[in-house]
Amino acid sequence: MQSPLQQSLSTSIAKDPKPLYFLIPISILSLLFFLSLSSQSSSSKLSPPIDPFLFPNRLQTSQIPTFTDPNNPNPDTETSLPRPPSIAYLISGKSGDLNRIFRLLYALYHPNNQYLLHLDLTASQSDRERLALEIQNVPIFRAANNVNVVGKADFYYRKGSSPILLTLHGAAILLRISENWDWFVNLNAGDYPLVTQDDFLHILSYLPKDLNFVNHTSYIGWKESRKLRPIIVDPGLYLKDKGEVFYATQKRDLPNAYQLFTGSATAILSRKFVEFCILGTDNLPRTLLMYLTNTPSSLTNYFPTILCNSNKFNRTTVNYNLQYSSPDKEPKLEPRMLNSNDFDDMIHSGAAFATEFPSDDPILDRIDREILGRIPGQVVPGGWCLGEPANATCATWGDASVLKPGPGAKRLERRLVALLSNDAFRYSQCIVESS
Ligand SMILES: *[C@@H]1O[C@H](CO)[C@@H](O)[C@H](O)[C@H]1NC(C)=O
Ligand SMILES: *[C@@H]1O[C@H](CO)[C@@H](O)[C@H](O)[C@H]1NC(C)=O
Ligand SMILES: *[C@@H]1O[C@H](CO)[C@@H](O)[C@H](O)[C@H]1NC(C)=O
Repeated sequence: MQSPLQQSLSTSIAKDPKPLYFLIPISILSLLFFLSLSSQSSSSKLSPPIDPFLFPNRLQTSQIPTFTDPNNPNPDTETSLPRPPSIAYLISGKSGDLNRIFRLLYALYHPNNQYLLHLDLTASQSDRERLALEIQNVPIFRAANNVNVVGKADFYYRKGSSPILLTLHGAAILLRISENWDWFVNLNAGDYPLVTQDDFLHILSYLPKDLNFVNHTSYIGWKESRKLRPIIVDPGLYLKDKGEVFYATQKRDLPNAYQLFTGSATAILSRKFVEFCILGTDNLPRTLLMYLTNTPSSLTNYFPTILCNSNKFNRTTVNYNLQYSSPDKEPKLEPRMLNSNDFDDMIHSGAAFATEFPSDDPILDRIDREILGRIPGQVVPGGWCLGEPANATCATWGDASVLKPGPGAKRLERRLVALLSNDAFRYSQCIVESS
């Protein structure tokens, strides 16, 4: 059985003789083979104590090498559905964001994923402890053992370079916590999902796992003077207490040792790419880290520049982070907050996430009710929830690899098909524009 995404991708390929370099050779079967291989080789030494009801297959694959044995067919090939991927989410917030982080965690939760929560140093250590304690009190978080809180936090100055530091810190911890995740996603407390995790994992399970999603452009324009030429010093890098970002009076030239790209702070990054940034022997990630130390809002430049300057990754980059944000007609530094008037446009966009919402805005209640089917104070019900409908659906659980995608999967699929069609994909990828 072909998935809708595979079908639409192959029809969009059939219309155009130029192949998508990575999709043509990947028939659904070889994709399955690849997935079984990778899940087998990653049966982990580090893996935390997990509830066997949630992950029956993870235990099985580490015990019986099923798929090479013709008498013992792999359960994956029987159902002919690819195994769902796993996403590692880094969710960060500041003082006063505790409840927002909790709400976002509930809205994004799936036992198959990993979650790392970060309250920056403007929040107190007792807030961090409260967050960790509340997580301990949620039975499913304990059973899946997949929610963690950064104990030794960093500062987050949006206008400085500390967000890069914080993001790489989180990614390094997530690499260490679990060998099983496929993509890394960094979100802020003010972001919210527009599809259920069942929708998201279902659609991602049909994509090659080396894709990276991040907005990027080499067109610097007005941003050049405001964001790239000034020299700043971020207090988060050297002061114990909250301080002000320091602006030097002099400006500097743009680099010419590599091509700068600017884009979105939020990205969906493949595990391979995250390993390249943190563990790799190519020095560009570190060189850039040092250059951007003194650049305003530097997280928006970090991942796009590494991806597009690396011949290993430049062809894996999709020019959209799947996150809806306020249409930025005038060049403004801060994006506009979303409100109820944005609802239809936002849902129609087919994005997986949106940014940024005011705390507990009524539009979030509407997303919970109409899009996620979430009851306040509970996680979004998914295929793993086996309880009675109503408020106890997810109090009883089963196999976390069973997904029940809904209308959100269709919206996301349409958007991805448009993004990955040949013209859109190739002709918006790491293009160097003359400015
Ligand atoms: C990213 O790109 C998409 C599609 O081009 C656009 O709609 C969105 O506003 C962009 N987001 C940011 C943060 O630039
Ligand atoms: C990626 O890098 C290779 C090698 O440097 C180059 O030939 C190719 O044009 C680049 N592709 C894109 C889309 O930038
Ligand atoms: C579920 O709802 C019922 C009635 O509305 C209530 O009595 C019960 O306490 C609720 N259970 C939970 C776990 O919230």
